[in-house]
Amino acid sequence: MNRRYRKTIIAGNWKMNKTATETKKFAEELKALLPKAKWCDVVVCVPAVNISAAMKAFKDMRVSIGAENLFYEKSGAYTGEWSADMLKDLGVKYVIIGHSERRQYFGETDFTVNKKVHAALEAGLHPIICVGESLEQRELGITMELIALQVKSALAGVPAEKLRKCVIAYEPVWAIGTGKTATSEQAAEVCTFIRTTVRHLYGARIARSITIQYGGSMKASNAAELLAQPDIDGGLIGGAALKADEFVDIINAANQD
Ligand code: PGA
Repeated sequence: MNRRYRKTIIAGNWKMNKTATETKKFAEELKALLPKAKWCDVVVCVPAVNISAAMKAFKDMRVSIGAENLFYEKSGAYTGEWSADMLKDLGVKYVIIGHSERRQYFGETDFTVNKKVHAALEAGLHPIICVGESLEQRELGITMELIALQVKSALAGVPAEKLRKCVIAYEPVWAIGTGKTATSEQAAEVCTFIRTTVRHLYGARIARSITIQYGGSMKASNAAELLAQPDIDGGLIGGAALKADEFVDIINAANQD
């Protein structure tokens, strides 16, 4: 973390978990445990059908609501999809884009990720852009090339003044939901490389101000060490964000000096 130059953001990614009723219960539990003073921003990304319930449940708390996806067109005949404007209108602040599960199961590509990033920014949302290599890619030694390609294609055509609204999440696919966390050295190496890539594209000032998260089995026991790395400015957390006490333990780790 480097709080002097950029925000620390702890974001939960609920994936396809929790009903509206369970959302309300989680918010009540979180409210009781959330520290008063927070030096990090807290975001909860929920399934789209639960956004309204989440807006209501978290309304008195300093917690922003995020979505897990959007479609890039503004409106039209796209059965089953929702637009950036629809999310914005509900009060959503962040939206996860290009999560590896969407790339793997729902045909998301670097091209659609780029279109979604543009749609999110146009609506005034903060995209959390996910990038990350598979185990095979890591073993082939092409991690950095792949990450550079993902970052560059996600940000293609994004003007510098909009970049401040973007968050990049480094999520090694082999560490997601597997209990296998990247070592802090591995995570730091790639997050630093992402910042360097942004610096080459947009210059030092913007690169210094962008929040870069780590995601992939982040939990209370490893959060402090990961967040101690200067280029890791927060976490995108799946499993450990589903229980209020575990989520708060990670928020507390981000609150340390
Ligand atoms: P995990 O998920 O923390 O359960 O590994 C992270 C993510 O997919 O964002």
